Amino acid sequence: MTEKFVDRRPVIQAAVVIHPEFPGETRLRDPEARLLEAVGLAEALDLEVRAAEIARVRRVTPATLFGSGRVDEIGVLVESVEADLVVIDDALSPVQQRNLEKAWKAKVVDRTGLILEIFARRARTREGKLQVELARLEYERSRLVRTWTHLERQRGGLGKTGGPGETQIELDRRIIADKIVRLKAELEEVRRTRTLHRAARKRVPFPTVALVGYTNAGKSTLFNRLTGADALAKDMLFATLDPTLRTVRLPKGRPAIISDTVGFISDLPHELVESFRATLEEVGEADVILHVRDVADPDGESHARDVETVLSQIPVVEGRRQVLLEVWNKIDLLPPEERAPVEARALRRGDAGGPPAVAVSAVSGEGIEALRAMIADLVDDAPEVETQLPPGDGEALAWLYQNGRVTDREDAEDGSMRVVVRLDAQALGRFERLFPEARLQHAAQ
Ligand code: GTP
Repeated sequence: MTEKFVDRRPVIQAAVVIHPEFPGETRLRDPEARLLEAVGLAEALDLEVRAAEIARVRRVTPATLFGSGRVDEIGVLVESVEADLVVIDDALSPVQQRNLEKAWKAKVVDRTGLILEIFARRARTREGKLQVELARLEYERSRLVRTWTHLERQRGGLGKTGGPGETQIELDRRIIADKIVRLKAELEEVRRTRTLHRAARKRVPFPTVALVGYTNAGKSTLFNRLTGADALAKDMLFATLDPTLRTVRLPKGRPAIISDTVGFISDLPHELVESFRATLEEVGEADVILHVRDVADPDGESHARDVETVLSQIPVVEGRRQVLLEVWNKIDLLPPEERAPVEARALRRGDAGGPPAVAVSAVSGEGIEALRAMIADLVDDAPEVETQLPPGDGEALAWLYQNGRVTDREDAEDGSMRVVVRLDAQALGRFERLFPEARLQHAAQ
């Protein structure tokens, strides 16, 4: 019988996730949260996580990382939940990986392997795909064994574990080296085209806004909310690897171009740092950076520090005035009594010397208009003018709201009004003709 239909969807595998904790570790984040994040990463790969544990490592055993007692314990766990795969949430040496695979009769993936796989699945643009493939090859070359997905494809299933034979390794090494050379050349070509595209975009005089944030902070959801686009946003980590560009309408201003970027993550494997290049270049060129933070995440502060560290390393285009705005997302998840204090803290944030902040919910839409107004304010280069409207001049006021962007307004007791508004030159001329009775002065910038 000939095969009419071949299901190529990835087979869901049962996994055990282990987060090794080392003595004297001065990590900001607690191991529980790190374990949860590792589980999240595994689930983003459609793995069925059947058990997750923190394993304290008092002394590193070079051959297996864990001591023999712990190796046995984990082995029992793996067998009892019938897992095919063990995720170790740290870097493993190739030898450790092989020895553990033998001991547990299951495939073993370390944190780098896991993140590489996630990046590979999420990459959307050609450049992103090439970058990930290159990172994966470099990783494989350093291990001399193929990563687990490749093993799978090659052997048609889980099969036996352990490295391939010596000649196979030699062959692999050569194939990998050739591939790396080819990929690098291809990448160069794609990058050249991208630079040309970017130059073309620069000729469109739109301000640019870049969304950054820790993975799962809600960037894609916010991006969709702001642009009305139906981009990919699932409860998955790294739903975005490549920058995506769209226009966002701002109240009474020029539209801005907004780009969604890859989620940041702490302890990014060094193989992947290069994969961020495209994203980071985009961020360095933006007029406004929106740092999206998950206010409902207890680890939010340390995630924010991680993001800030990366941001501080991005070279900003010379002569460019770049502003940072924090978006405190997911306020809908806060208990009602915590919401108002958080919103108030966000409002005061800019005054305290930090970047201004706005509390929003990308899901419910709360605070989104305020965010739009703040972005508009930051990118608006129409000059601000101050005008005194005589009492009862509702018509002039309505005109200003319609044709400019009112940024401040004071109503005096006698009914007169002081209105500060951003008006471009053309609108300003019309206003002066239409409402000669209004007193105008240019506000200090
Ligand atoms: P990466 O692509 O992994 O970097 O993630 P991201 O930052 O783009 O996050 P994404 O938009 O994919 O959202 C992650 C999860 O958080 C999804 O399940 C969203 O539905 C959820 N989410 C995002 N914003 C909000 C929000 O304001 N409130 C609530 N309750 N959930 C939100």
